[in-house]
Amino acid sequence: MTSFTPRVFSGIQPTNHLQLGNYLGAVKRFVAMQNDGMETIYCIVDQHAITASFQNPADLRHATRELASAYLACGLDPAKSVLFNQSQVPAHSQLAWVFNCVARMGWMNRMTQFKDKAGKNAEKASLGLYAYPALMAADILLYHATHVPVGEDQKQHVELTRDIAAKFNHDYGVDFFPETQPIIEGAATRVMSLRDGTKKMSKSDPSDASRINLTDDADTIAKKIRKAKTDPEPLPETVGGLADRPEARNLVNIYAALAEITAADVIAQHGGSQFGSFKPALADLAVDKLAPISTEMARLMGDVTEIDRVLSQGAERAAAMAEPIIAQTYDIVGFVR
Ligand code: TRP
Repeated sequence: MTSFTPRVFSGIQPTNHLQLGNYLGAVKRFVAMQNDGMETIYCIVDQHAITASFQNPADLRHATRELASAYLACGLDPAKSVLFNQSQVPAHSQLAWVFNCVARMGWMNRMTQFKDKAGKNAEKASLGLYAYPALMAADILLYHATHVPVGEDQKQHVELTRDIAAKFNHDYGVDFFPETQPIIEGAATRVMSLRDGTKKMSKSDPSDASRINLTDDADTIAKKIRKAKTDPEPLPETVGGLADRPEARNLVNIYAALAEITAADVIAQHGGSQFGSFKPALADLAVDKLAPISTEMARLMGDVTEIDRVLSQGAERAAAMAEPIIAQTYDIVGFVR
């Protein structure tokens, strides 16, 4: 078995605003991996963004630049990581076509995300939504990425990526694509809705008060935390006491993740406190950590030319990495070039 150099790849779709859950669960981990000295490639998957429903072109452009500004404001550094949008590197689509011919209908039919997104009306879903996981496999394998930080909901797609790699290697008698490992976000970084502690914080929740957007300013962040749903009890004296209290647990977990300490540490400091004193402490911490991000995003969004320049330079670097891999893939498949 060939040994592949460790390389991290991940992507986020430019649809809507990024919220606290994406920051703690994804982007913050992207930054940590970048600063651990790993080779890191972070993509804005704009081609995936048009699979589910029609995207207004102006909105898509705005969301792409806003996600780029979030990447930068959160600490991704174009000198350390390759940052770009997918559609600027045509090799993603080229490899996706080959993978469309490797993946089997039976495999695609088992994808739970397609079933969830297509709903009852699968006949009306786009072909792109169905092929989505093959494009995702191409994103990853185009760089021979070995590690993919993703949420639990993407685990099945990374498993499919491994199946595609294995079948390609087997069918063509090569040892060309690596077996990629998913790195799944831990429960501690799973951020729940501020209105319902049993539901994931989501950019698609109709209530804006249910989430903290990375674009929210200091006042908005503080107000949303003060208004977050809680129960009438004070915080428990032990972490175990959070078990049946989803809202309390969520606020403690958010505190822990932002302060980079454990939930037990938070309880050691605040156990027994009323929400009337814990919430202001959490609001201060959140404003301290998050307001600089929204301020920096707003500054960056004031200079779209600069964002576009960062993306196109990132795309050039990505294309240079992808080029030998797509060329070898074409040779393996038998495409004359
Ligand atoms: N499907 C991922 C999501 O919705 C986004 C994505 C596309 C991705 N290509 C990827 C994630 C490659 C990791 C690696 O969250």
